[in-house]
Amino acid sequence: MTQQQWTAVDEYLNGVLVGEDAALTAALQTSEKAGLPQIAVSPTQGKLLNLLALGIGARRILEVGSLGGYSAIWMGRALPADGRLISLELSPAHAAVARANLHEAGLEKVAEVRTGRAADSLAELVDDGAEPFDLVFIDADKPSIPEYFEWSLRLTHPGSLIIVDNVIRSGAVADPDSTDPSVLGIRRLHELIAANPQVEATAIQTVGSKGYDGFTLIRVMPAA
Ligand code: SAH
Ligand code: DHB
Ligand code: MG
Repeated sequence: MTQQQWTAVDEYLNGVLVGEDAALTAALQTSEKAGLPQIAVSPTQGKLLNLLALGIGARRILEVGSLGGYSAIWMGRALPADGRLISLELSPAHAAVARANLHEAGLEKVAEVRTGRAADSLAELVDDGAEPFDLVFIDADKPSIPEYFEWSLRLTHPGSLIIVDNVIRSGAVADPDSTDPSVLGIRRLHELIAANPQVEATAIQTVGSKGYDGFTLIRVMPAA
């Protein structure tokens, strides 16, 4: 199996199932024009986030890592009219593109992009006593994933879903001797999950237009 095949299959699936529309296409185009890295979730992955958010009836969604707002649009569209999506982004330039794209998608009333280091913004949300989130999507700097997971546990409720992107590192995640800071971050995440009786998780390896990668999916369990 090759990248070419994975991309061809994603194109087939996009055409028959995903149906990307003008706002999503424009979000990717303006992101590219602004010089942002082309690392947004793929259309099939974006729709997965949308369907998972719909499936749990998410009313409040937290994203760590906005880039140009592509994944935020997919998730924001799963919210009811009085729902809320808060997306955290370090780069003011990325945040500006994300805000414009969310506005273009008609989500300006429900979605907000907060600029700054995610660790600081997460601490602020806890300090402010933010209402718990139903869904958290962690997709920023990978070495900080364990920290973002710990904050997420303080910002969710039993039944919440936490999704972490890019957890496979082209297979390097299975290497116990890796010194790659991203691999170490993800392996630490999985150890924290394994040691925590409050959560249940799995991880899924994926192939597609973005290559070989995967998600970790974590459910905060209701008290037994
Ligand atoms: N979720 C987006 C992709 C995010 S890419 C999508 O699928 O459409 C990762 C983003 O995380 C980048 O925009 C990067 O600037 C941001 N990032 C990196 N380090 C960060 C940090 N410490 N705090 C907040 N955002 C950070
Ligand atoms: C990178 C980051 C991502 O969030 C992603 O989905 C793909 C690649 C990166 O930093 O290279
Ligand atoms: Mg990602």
